[in-house]
Amino acid sequence: MPKASEQCACKGSRVKSGRPVQIVKSLTIPGAVVDSRSLNGGGMKSWIWLLALGCSTPAPEVPTPPPTPAVDVSKYTGIFQGPLPARWDRAGDPALEQKVQLGRILYYDPALSLNNDISCNSCHQLDRFGVDNQPTSPGHQGQRGDRNSPTVYNAAGHFVQFWDGRAVDVEAQAKGPILNPIEMAMPSEPEVIQRLSAKEEYKKLFADAFPGVSDPITYDNLAAAIGAFERRLSTPGRFDKFLGGDGAALTPEEVAGLDLFVSSGCVACHGGTLVGGTMYQKIGVVKPYETADLGRQKVTNAPADEKMFKVPSLRNISKTGPYFHDGSVATLDDAIRKMGEHQLGKTFTDAEVASIATFLGALDGEVDAAYIAKPAIP
Ligand code: HEC
Ligand code: HEC
Repeated sequence: MPKASEQCACKGSRVKSGRPVQIVKSLTIPGAVVDSRSLNGGGMKSWIWLLALGCSTPAPEVPTPPPTPAVDVSKYTGIFQGPLPARWDRAGDPALEQKVQLGRILYYDPALSLNNDISCNSCHQLDRFGVDNQPTSPGHQGQRGDRNSPTVYNAAGHFVQFWDGRAVDVEAQAKGPILNPIEMAMPSEPEVIQRLSAKEEYKKLFADAFPGVSDPITYDNLAAAIGAFERRLSTPGRFDKFLGGDGAALTPEEVAGLDLFVSSGCVACHGGTLVGGTMYQKIGVVKPYETADLGRQKVTNAPADEKMFKVPSLRNISKTGPYFHDGSVATLDDAIRKMGEHQLGKTFTDAEVASIATFLGALDGEVDAAYIAKPAIP
């Protein structure tokens, strides 16, 4: 655990922590200043006590509180590296705007599904942090798979795609759902291409996105365009300001939750700028976890990969429930509790769960409304 002096993150300008300090100073009670600014609950008690005292005292003049030391952000940058990038360009391939625009249109186009009723956006809703908030999503004729739809925001930054990592990048990933019989259910790649080629608008859009290519409407190019669009679905937020060096970008309560997240060992798996998305780990490392899903073993057939899943990114996690690969965990609090128990062998108190949840709430970022605006569909 960090020392109390390191935890004390409040800035003089914060009203919440400033007020009791001011009363204390005017009453000149020694020691109480430190107490009321500490983050571990002691502050609250002195608050109440001082309020009671304050009632019988005429309102004193309020001096400006002294500046308090800012959080030393550098101790976190080793773990989380740095702020989110604005985009994850493919190596050596900064995409053309026309390719991104084509990807945006395809992402929203239900013509990529057999019954013309399901688009990528049906399950990964861009105005809902890239999810549908259901345990599993209805696809072709309402069928549901056995895995939860993860968010597409920041997905391009993960080391692999899908819960079991069976696609190497977002381009490879995009080829899957269109042909998946319970998702978009198109019978074959040629039928997808045939359908798109029948529309004049797509002929022009593909030609603009892939200039100089003689037959640009291909399944590979379709996936490349969707991938190019997804590579800019970044959601920077306050945590990025914090990682960028602004210690005041998080509240003292959020920093306390961050410290607990670090000291408990969550960062052994959920590290890096995405707070996850960098490795596979077993669900149930310390205490076995009940699930019928074999995870990565389905891909590799290796017994050692049983119940191994990609460690999910926790960016925007307060918005993307329900949780876990099967969507079986309804609340974030419960997900935190289960992680403590099964991954770390720790039983968190309610206060500890709440503290970590407060930090995780600070991982909410901003969606670029103009970037995700639904375009006209051909
Ligand atoms: C019927 C719902 C549904 C539709 C439609 C759908 N997806 Fe998904 N998507 C899922 C599910 C479920 C998963 C997780 C499956 C797994 O891991 O086995 C997933 C995984 C992903 C991932 C991986 C994210 C990560 O964290 O690993 C990306 C990216 C993605 N989908 C993009 C797309 C795109 C692009 C389209 C349209 C071409 C699309 N999806 C259509 C349900 C859907
Ligand atoms: C040993 C590695 C490991 C550790 C340590 C760990 N996690 Fe996880 N975490 C995972 C894996 C793997 C998953 C995916 C589990 C699944 O879906 O079955 C996950 C999933 C989650 C989820 C759900 C994400 C989602 O999109 O559904 C949350 C929230 C979470 N972890 C928070 C935490 C917290 C908080 C801690 C510390 C108390 C922690 N984790 C510690 C590996 C780990």
